[in-house]
Amino acid sequence: MNFSTNIINTEFQKPDIHGSITFPIYRNTAFEFASAEEIEAAFRGEIPAHTYARVSNPTVTNFEQKIQAASGAKSVIALASGMAAISHTFMTIAYAGCNIVASPRLFGNTFSFFKSTLSAFGVEIRFVDTNNLEEISAALDENTCGFFAELLTNPHMELADFPAISKILRAKNIPMIIDTTLIPWCAFDAKKAGIDIEVVSTTKYISGGATGLGGVIVDYGSFDWTKNAKLAVMPEPKNVSRFTQKIRSEIMRNLGATMSPDTAYLQSLGLETLQVRYEHMSRTAYELAKHFAKHQKITRVGYTQLESSPYKILSDKLFSGNPGAMFTLCLASKKDCYSFMNALKVIRRATNLFDNKTLAIHPESTIYSSFTPEMKKTAGIDDTLIRFSVGLENIEDLKNDIAQALEKI
Ligand SMILES: Cc1ncc(COP(=O)(O)O)c(C=O)c1O
Repeated sequence: MNFSTNIINTEFQKPDIHGSITFPIYRNTAFEFASAEEIEAAFRGEIPAHTYARVSNPTVTNFEQKIQAASGAKSVIALASGMAAISHTFMTIAYAGCNIVASPRLFGNTFSFFKSTLSAFGVEIRFVDTNNLEEISAALDENTCGFFAELLTNPHMELADFPAISKILRAKNIPMIIDTTLIPWCAFDAKKAGIDIEVVSTTKYISGGATGLGGVIVDYGSFDWTKNAKLAVMPEPKNVSRFTQKIRSEIMRNLGATMSPDTAYLQSLGLETLQVRYEHMSRTAYELAKHFAKHQKITRVGYTQLESSPYKILSDKLFSGNPGAMFTLCLASKKDCYSFMNALKVIRRATNLFDNKTLAIHPESTIYSSFTPEMKKTAGIDDTLIRFSVGLENIEDLKNDIAQALEKI
């Protein structure tokens, strides 16, 4: 079956007793058992059963199975936000004395999680230029617990050759962990690109209409976790990897950032319309980027499908010429950016990505406002850049809005 058909027809774990064709919301916290022996078996994980809503919930499980159908992964864990997916992943594999080799081109909170939160536990972050394979290779050593990058960087719109990076990592037994929030599975085959673990903010494309926060950890079952000092000591689980087992049986229970069943219900519906929304939004983003690329007041437009992009060939190869609904433009100064933003009438001044509404933000003064000048430099944040997340409005209305706002500068 094709992408959307497959997601829409993902089978339920158990048929609904009323014949509902959409998996219902189970809002309860507790689940009862017929005997003490049965509840013991459920707690030991010997029978497939839900025990307590922080551990698992039927509506959330259904959402995870739909993500599995979309990605072709071995297992999926849904959590309360994209940041929970990132933090749970590294709380699972990192340990004092280890290091993480990462791109510094990161979403603000991810950068802060590595530099402030994780480093306080004795984890070293080694930033590398992901377009320099020799630099990546030189940064890896026997204490590297993972390589991390964003697939398409936010807000820089940079891309790396992940299949090539994967070969280096495989040879050294280091897992490739990628935040693929900006390009969903209908346009990108993560497994083929050599990704072992994907983290995704489902708040964005998947939720559909920005209905709530969510995140998923997608495990392709491709990494041998006996090569991780922390996971090597645990017994080999039966149906999932050591990584997924550790999160399910320990990390998510102890940290408690579970996805709510209401969110899982809404995001399951969002997932069913993902492909049509993505393709429509991407087409509009490309047309807008192309239309404004030569405007005299714009110094640069960022969109990897443009002929002028240094990432065009790689983007076409990895994303089948469909690199998503985010594009950026640079103006002559921060002051010009503010004049432009203040003149927008249809496009909203707001932070988020892939809402049905088109959004514009000046990242340097908002998402990165707590960063020092040095951190901004490391993270590649430029105060002349405006980020757009293109929604589902008519393209002519968006074009006219951008054009009239440029005139106000
Ligand atoms: C690329 C990327 N990863 C992770 C996140 C964090 O996601 P959430 O807001 O769902 O925690 C964001 C949020 O904007 C993001 O853009």
